[in-house]
Amino acid sequence: MSWTPSSWRDFPIKQQPTYQDQEALKEVERQLKSFPPLIFAGEARTLKKQLAKVGRGEAFLLQGGDCAESFSDFKSKTIKNLFKLMLQMNMVLMYSAGKPVIKIGRIAGQFAKPRSSDFEEINGVKLPSYRGDIINEIAFTEVARVPNPHNMIRAYNQSAATLNLIRAFARGGMADLNQVHQWNLDFIQDNTLGQKYEELSKKIDSAMKFMAACGLTSDLTPQLNQTTLFTSHEALLLNYEEALTRKDETGQWYDCSAHMLWIGDRTRDLTDAHIEFFRGINNPIGCKVGPTMQSDELIQLIDALNPDNEEGRLNLIVRMGADKIREYFPPLLKRVRDAGKNVVWSCDPMHGNVEKSSTGYKTRDFTNILSEVSQFFEIHHEMGTVAGGIHLEMTGNDVTECTGSTSSPISDTDLGDRYHTQCDPRLNASQALELAFMLGDTLKD
Ligand code: PEP
Ligand code: CO
Repeated sequence: MSWTPSSWRDFPIKQQPTYQDQEALKEVERQLKSFPPLIFAGEARTLKKQLAKVGRGEAFLLQGGDCAESFSDFKSKTIKNLFKLMLQMNMVLMYSAGKPVIKIGRIAGQFAKPRSSDFEEINGVKLPSYRGDIINEIAFTEVARVPNPHNMIRAYNQSAATLNLIRAFARGGMADLNQVHQWNLDFIQDNTLGQKYEELSKKIDSAMKFMAACGLTSDLTPQLNQTTLFTSHEALLLNYEEALTRKDETGQWYDCSAHMLWIGDRTRDLTDAHIEFFRGINNPIGCKVGPTMQSDELIQLIDALNPDNEEGRLNLIVRMGADKIREYFPPLLKRVRDAGKNVVWSCDPMHGNVEKSSTGYKTRDFTNILSEVSQFFEIHHEMGTVAGGIHLEMTGNDVTECTGSTSSPISDTDLGDRYHTQCDPRLNASQALELAFMLGDTLKD
């Protein structure tokens, strides 16, 4: 049972690239190992404590960001818009739930994608699938699809720069509660949702004025002028994760590529390499739970990943689909509850609700997304367990990738207007904010 950062290499593994140039791969791994970590273990421990609160129902988890980050859309505005959107959703949720919101971005490392097929075929031409910018390129040419180990260095550098900007936004004044009006993104200011957000901002303004009168001003109170946005990604490409795994001063191993890492629904087999890797790192971790998960299997998985039943260690991210969650989730939840396992439950209403639009786009309908979220909360309510939070694919930009919503209705024929995702369809800023308001009402109840 001895574990090392490389012990996963002795296990079967899924969803990995086959690098042609093994020498180049080794050189990249050697370089990454010599680079500084992207996060500090103490931050991962702080997040674990905060997630423990989520598990007990004392805080709420908001996790979100791109399906896949890309090298081409590496822009300050994209990062800033997502950051502002997270702050807005944070306000809506915090105001209605009266609880702190723990914010984790799918950002600064979300580059590797599992795919349903190893090959993609277009007009009779068959090429290896795109697996995320950390592995190969999205262009449909033979050269672009060859896995390139040097992309790992580029992903590392982009993650470092992204994280640097996030830390600056979080600490440098943008998150100051006196700025709530400025977080409203231009393209939602004028719709009903923008107005709803303005009303909330006014209430926060009054509260700020009242506190200032009491002598609590934001310039002197870090809780009022700063925030924390933690980072996370699916730790799919284990060559990269291993190279960034470091032993901290307490002698424990942490994967320092992000604060939190998760295992995807396609790579969670008990006897496979990803479980082996994850059991040895001390970060808070997540595991996706799809409709094929069995109760016994889930208990074994929990025991493998969290043998000490530590609070805040394990986030189970449920992604069943709006038409399946009612049938498949309650037995799993009951089993975990009755076994007394400490886990943080969150709802990913995206990955079980993918469909193809009549216009040929991969999309998700807002009604199904909302429906899966409400069913998730209802089921927890019935079982007397804690619905900890949500996990979304979203962007602060004004894209047209998911259909539906009342604030900015998107139909099948609108999808082509601004369909920019590198992989799965994301909620745009209005849709994400609308979901937050809906959730706020649920939490209030
Ligand atoms: C994802 O979160 O981007 C993903 C691929 O999810 P899942 O493993 O649940 O399919
Ligand atoms: Co996705």
